[in-house]
Amino acid sequence: MTSPHVSVMLKETLELFSDTKLTIFFDGTLGAGGHAEAFLKAHPEIEKYLGCDRDQSALEIAKTNLSSWNEKVEFLHGNFADLDLLLEEKGIEKVDGFFLT
Ligand SMILES: C[S@@+](CC[C@H](N)C(=O)[O-])C[C@H]1O[C@@H](n2cnc3c(N)ncnc32)[C@H](O)[C@@H]1O
Repeated sequence: MTSPHVSVMLKETLELFSDTKLTIFFDGTLGAGGHAEAFLKAHPEIEKYLGCDRDQSALEIAKTNLSSWNEKVEFLHGNFADLDLLLEEKGIEKVDGFFLT
């Protein structure tokens, strides 16, 4: 078992971005990656999915759960409050969307 976690308000979260083209997306609370997988499936246009979590063990679970999406997902160990610094380190000036759950 990789994680028993159920992603909250998944349908509602996806609906918020249903009309938005997402090329670069920032997920500040990646957790086990449930929302991430749903976003990646719903938005094939995503080129870079930045998955951030302050808990290294959550990132390890997400890496396993999102192994099919390795080409698109970047795993960031840090606090979402440092979003500007995390993006600067990656040379990214803007994202098309972000969320925290
Ligand atoms: C409810 S879980 C996220 C669930 C995830 N979206 C999913 O679908 O599985 C919350 C996660 O946010 C992380 N977290 C909480 N506060 C954070 C912060 N300030 N910066 C980065 N990660 C944080 C926790 O470590 C935890 O893994």
